[in-house]
Amino acid sequence: MTTSRVLPGNRILRYTLSERVVHWISGVSYIYLLLNGLGLWSPSLWWMIVILGGGPLARLMHPWVGLIFVGSVLWMYKMWKDDMRITETDREWSKTLGKYVRNEEEELTPVEARRGWERWAPVDRFNLGQKYLFWVMFWSGIVLLLTGLVLWFTEYIPRSLSFLRFIAVLLHPIAFLATLGGFIIHVYMGTAVVRGGFSSVIRGEVSENWARHYHRLWLDRITGNAPTKK
Ligand code: HEM
Repeated sequence: MTTSRVLPGNRILRYTLSERVVHWISGVSYIYLLLNGLGLWSPSLWWMIVILGGGPLARLMHPWVGLIFVGSVLWMYKMWKDDMRITETDREWSKTLGKYVRNEEEELTPVEARRGWERWAPVDRFNLGQKYLFWVMFWSGIVLLLTGLVLWFTEYIPRSLSFLRFIAVLLHPIAFLATLGGFIIHVYMGTAVVRGGFSSVIRGEVSENWARHYHRLWLDRITGNAPTKK
């Protein structure tokens, strides 16, 4: 990793322009597929299809936008596969997760609380929850792609392989539900819980303090400091 992520004025480049563009291609295409797919899935959600321009257009667009979504996730894989690898440090960090969820860090004395982040296992560029989200999106994306192709070109499937259609009809919505769970948690964490996270994926930058608080190992690496002790 080079030091080019360190910007003037104690700012850190969290996401490059291409990382942000790929992220938002993914976000916009996912929301379109979410509305479009739910509308095609259940008659009670048909109104979503009406908003998106009607049935024929929605049916035509769904597989193409699906390709864009999966393409963006594969692009993320190319950019972030090393950062998304689950390590021993992540397992260490996950042990403190219960305290975080139970708000137990708030029971520290003021002095301890100020230095509270130092008591946690340090986090690299992404924490374990962020990595899980990525892998859920990645593997579900692969399943959605394969089952989606079967449903798209169903008339080309020979009778002897017709069981593939049943598998696809079953697995396509299951994989979608997995992404939906991850997506809801992701948007909630990124917008309501972690202050500064949303602007990082818009403007690309975070403060050095933000990086130290949430991703100390990563900050140490990009600033050239030796990794701090756990
Ligand atoms: C459209 C609504 C979305 C919002 C508001 C949103 C928000 C965010 C935010 C705030 C971050 C930066 C988090 C940080 O660095 O602390 C982020 C990163 C990321 N986003 Fe999204 N995102 C959205 C959609 C998606 C979708 C559909 C995917 C599917 C692949 C996705 C995958 C990721 C990944 C892998 C990261 C990097 C690691 C992480 O923070 O989880 N995002 N997003």
